Amino acid sequence: MSKWRVLIFLLCVFSITVLFKENDQRRILQKFNLPLDTDPFACGKCLTENDTWFLQRINQSVKPFLSPNHNLSEDTFNWWKLLQKEKRNFSHYKETVDMLFQIFPSIPDVIESRPQKYESCAVVGNSANLIRSHYGPLIDFHDVVIRINAGQTKGYETDVGNKTTHRIMYPESATDLDNTTHLVLFPFKIQDLEWLISALTTGFSGKWYLPIKSKIKANKNLVMVMNPAFMKYVHDAWLENKGNYPSTGFMALLLALHICDEVHVFGYGADKDGNWSHYWEKLKDTNLKTGMHPGIEEYQTIEKLAQKMKLTFYRGL
Ligand SMILES: *[C@@H]1O[C@H](CO)[C@@H](O)[C@H](O)[C@H]1NC(C)=O
Ligand SMILES: *[C@@H]1O[C@H](CO)[C@@H](O)[C@H](O)[C@H]1NC(C)=O
Ligand SMILES: *[C@@H]1O[C@H](CO)[C@@H](O)[C@H](O)[C@H]1NC(C)=O
Ligand SMILES: *[C@@H]1O[C@H](CO)[C@@H](O)[C@H](O)[C@H]1NC(C)=O
Ligand SMILES: *[C@@H]1O[C@H](CO)[C@@H](O)[C@H](O)[C@H]1NC(C)=O
Ligand SMILES: *[C@@H]1O[C@H](CO)[C@@H](O)[C@H](O)[C@H]1NC(C)=O
Ligand SMILES: *[C@@H]1O[C@H](CO)[C@@H](O)[C@H](O)[C@H]1NC(C)=O
Repeated sequence: MSKWRVLIFLLCVFSITVLFKENDQRRILQKFNLPLDTDPFACGKCLTENDTWFLQRINQSVKPFLSPNHNLSEDTFNWWKLLQKEKRNFSHYKETVDMLFQIFPSIPDVIESRPQKYESCAVVGNSANLIRSHYGPLIDFHDVVIRINAGQTKGYETDVGNKTTHRIMYPESATDLDNTTHLVLFPFKIQDLEWLISALTTGFSGKWYLPIKSKIKANKNLVMVMNPAFMKYVHDAWLENKGNYPSTGFMALLLALHICDEVHVFGYGADKDGNWSHYWEKLKDTNLKTGMHPGIEEYQTIEKLAQKMKLTFYRGL
């Protein structure tokens, strides 16, 4: 990297820091010429307004992560097992979870007993609306940067940044991580928990309709597993049970609302032509939306959360 690029980068970091200290996000957005449809400052009254909609949905006592210290109810298990046609019974689930915590530390407890949540989080979806957005520095500025599935950074740093503190995945979407990134597993069946145990130890040899990596690189100490009870809560409370179950992206966003004080959302929704695609590849079916997930309800909920200033929604290009 040339000296000039280093200097310009440092200048950017410096001005971002100063600007954020002044808590003047609008100026940053103007500086980077970033679009922000939902102007958080247009609605000074919103915070004190009747927030029934939000309060009726949010439930801070639902634990986002699996832990040896809280048990799933059989009811919740019976909901969860339908997601991907789990055949095995509740006892088997419990045995697998017990095995899981023989290998992985119960980090979730640490998070849940943190006196404070993470200060500010960027949740980065995979939409093609990130292309040419120049969001990179803005995304990397957050304490926590949550990415989803195959969402890559190499070659796309200007638009998506290069920092990943948490990567959400399921076995069929798994990728290798560096030693400082949290692997956040979203499990949809018992096999997914078994995969996590094996993929980080002896190697996994099970089958699914999609290929599954037998081994992955990740720091075992930083593994977190989403609690099926949290998935059910998102489906019940936030989507009124619409669709089969919530998309990974939507659950990631709700997770952030629970573990972060401030949530900034990037790379969700279609691009400006209305196409649904990934920023690093063209999907064949650009009308795919979110398949069996309730895409419209999810999008409307994100819009509403933005309107009510529970998150900041960067719509990209
Ligand atoms: C808040 O709004 C709901 C309907 O949206 C209404 O039923 C309720 O009475 C309102 N509460 C207050 C305190 O204004
Ligand atoms: C919130 O979640 C807890 C734990 O799952 C549950 O016991 C409680 O009934 C929920 N509260 C509401 C208002 O749904
Ligand atoms: C969870 O279940 C185990 C047995 O499966 C039991 O030993 C433990 O006490 C339960 N924990 C809670 C918090 O209910
Ligand atoms: C659960 O399934 C196992 C076989 O995988 C069986 O041995 C066990 O009896 C079943 N438990 C219950 C409670 O049905
Ligand atoms: C991200 O980019 C910055 C600036 O170019 C660099 O200092 C840092 O090492 C990069 N981080 C990663 C994880 O690649
Ligand atoms: C990764 O981090 C852990 C601590 O979380 C450490 O024990 C381990 O040596 C590190 N591995 C590498 C390859 O740096
Ligand atoms: C997006 O959609 C438009 C019209 O629907 C189409 O012409 C265009 O090729 C699509 N772009 C991409 C990148 O798929």
